[in-house]
Amino acid sequence: MSEVADRAGAGAAQMILELLPEPVILVQGGGGETAEIAYGNQAAREVFRIELAGAPLGAALRRPEVLETIEAALEAATAAEVAFETIGVQPRFWRAFARPLATDPDGPNQLVVVLRDETDARRTERMRADFLANASHELRTPLASLAGFVETLRTHAKDDAEAREKFLGIMAQQATRMARLVDDLLSLSRIELNEHIAPSGKVDLPRTVQDVTDAIRPLTEERKVTVSAQADADVRPVVGDRDQLVQVIQNLIDNAVKYTPSGGRVYVRLEAAGSLDAAREASRAGVGLSLLSPDPAHEAPQGYVVIRVVDEGPGIARQHLPRLSERFYRVEGQRSGGTGLGLAIVKHVVNRHRGGLTVESAEGEGSTFSVYLPVAAQG
Ligand SMILES: Nc1ncnc2c1ncn2[C@@H]1O[C@H](COP(=O)(O)OP(=O)(O)O)[C@@H](O)[C@H]1O
Ligand SMILES: [Mg+2]
Repeated sequence: MSEVADRAGAGAAQMILELLPEPVILVQGGGGETAEIAYGNQAAREVFRIELAGAPLGAALRRPEVLETIEAALEAATAAEVAFETIGVQPRFWRAFARPLATDPDGPNQLVVVLRDETDARRTERMRADFLANASHELRTPLASLAGFVETLRTHAKDDAEAREKFLGIMAQQATRMARLVDDLLSLSRIELNEHIAPSGKVDLPRTVQDVTDAIRPLTEERKVTVSAQADADVRPVVGDRDQLVQVIQNLIDNAVKYTPSGGRVYVRLEAAGSLDAAREASRAGVGLSLLSPDPAHEAPQGYVVIRVVDEGPGIARQHLPRLSERFYRVEGQRSGGTGLGLAIVKHVVNRHRGGLTVESAEGEGSTFSVYLPVAAQG
């Protein structure tokens, strides 16, 4: 500090302190005197919403355990660290680092207290823990069922050929389910790893939709659902990673087919939209809800292509819509046998592509999922 002050001048050092994004306060007292705040930088004044100089420390740090820790450190001229939470409209988690200053032996003791906002780190940590717990639970269910059947086959069903056949069938299903779950988890983590790197390829969407509908034909035939695709003549290639866009289209069509009763229809449409607003309009013809909106500051200069997947299935009640793209979220009562990760994958891929995702649905009225993606520059 003193070197910085010497080289840049004390005024510059003070200015640096003032401009630090983290709250910094200088506390003084000790020797039986009450601790008071001698200085607080701009961030500290904003966080504590008081005029700090001369205020008692207790006016800024109200939690008794925090106050005690800092006062004890001040008294003993030692370093200390304490974590605490502030309540308000948005609770925040803080960690305070106190360091003694070498001061005049006749004057009061002084401490610098730097506060670090750990709210985001806490939230991320929490999400990770939740995710791990959910993933483990999802894997454990089929695993427990497999273990149960192995036991049954070894004991009660040992000599019962018919039961054996039936149980093996269920076991195969559970194993497939686990494999699908692991595939989806891996795929999600791969997408997240490079989510901050924009894709650089060019993708011809009408072709891609065609390829996906061809690949999904066995499923549509089995379920007796017809899928028809249609594209505007002026649909241009989009910026993208083809494999990932295949996953997006596949997941949306797969859902539409899976949740549509036998004999139903699914429509896939590709539409050209000039601007972000137009793309949003096109996606929200009815009662739409945005699951992912691109940053308007990064509007694609060439416009967007909207991929719409429309089904005449059971629809989704309003209260579920905002949560659909959460990992493992499934609407209760719909026994999909799915992993609940499909729409999370869709959302992350679309986010990487700087695109948007909306859903329109109401109970009994079918569902429309729309994805819009930036058109690639020509040439
Ligand atoms: N087209 C649709 N019609 C009705 N419900 C849907 C549709 N698409 C998705 N859902 C609901 O959203 C949930 C999440 O979808 P998704 O993430 O793809 O998981 P899943 O593996 O269950 O298909 C589904 O479990 C289902 O309840
Ligand atoms: Mg799905």
